[in-house]
Amino acid sequence: MTDHLSTPRIYHSARTWRDYQEMFLIDAGALKGLRVLDCPAGGSDFTARAAECGAGAVAVDPLYSLELDTIPAALAQDQEHLNAHATADTSRGYRRLPDRGVFDHWSMARARFEAGVEQQSHQGAGPYVAAQLPELPFQDKAFDLTLSGFLLFVYAGLLDEDFHVRAVRELLRVTRGEVRIHPVETDGAEPTALLTTLASAFPSTVFELRAASVSNRVKPRSTLILRPREGC
Ligand SMILES: C[S@@+](CC[C@H](N)C(=O)[O-])C[C@H]1O[C@@H](n2cnc3c(N)ncnc32)[C@H](O)[C@@H]1O
Repeated sequence: MTDHLSTPRIYHSARTWRDYQEMFLIDAGALKGLRVLDCPAGGSDFTARAAECGAGAVAVDPLYSLELDTIPAALAQDQEHLNAHATADTSRGYRRLPDRGVFDHWSMARARFEAGVEQQSHQGAGPYVAAQLPELPFQDKAFDLTLSGFLLFVYAGLLDEDFHVRAVRELLRVTRGEVRIHPVETDGAEPTALLTTLASAFPSTVFELRAASVSNRVKPRSTLILRPREGC
């Protein structure tokens, strides 16, 4: 089966606040006062919405190193591609809405994200940080909660086992509380052997898998929750 994970590049997406709440099992009310990292954040509006909930939210993605005025086109182009691909290949398990693309709801998230990035470019500083795994420009335990969606596991055709180990080590380093990664399955919703590799690479970390039902998906996916083992 061909899926977008076996294509030769990583696409930019713009999942919404609601997608994030479902993927990462987030209760918006519990975010207040937390330092939250979203890596990779792509064109998601999660950071803007989490800040409105009182979180100190930071978004990281190499996308932000592009000239600001080229980011909207990059996001729009990839949204169109992913829409067409998911609509044509129903085995990927996305719900198709009548007369609408599978990912049309991302447009609202993109608009909010783009407004935030533009505001940051006027102010000279803000929560959108251009960086990439496996090295992040943050101190140890800088965040209470770290979210990582649609990079690890799903792009295993492009990112090898060593990258996964280094990336997860870095996410754990910058996090005091939990690291949540979604999904752990490939795009064909198959479980991944990488999970076993990671579990043996990080013996002092608790690995918990939880089912996360995301509204525009037919097939459920799992979210991996990583937290330091008690006493470590
Ligand atoms: C499919 S998008 C996911 C974005 C967002 N989490 C979402 O669900 O909409 C994957 C993102 O990973 C970013 N990316 C690629 N390589 C990366 C790396 N080494 N570290 C962090 N982000 C990376 C890409 O720029 C892209 O925006």
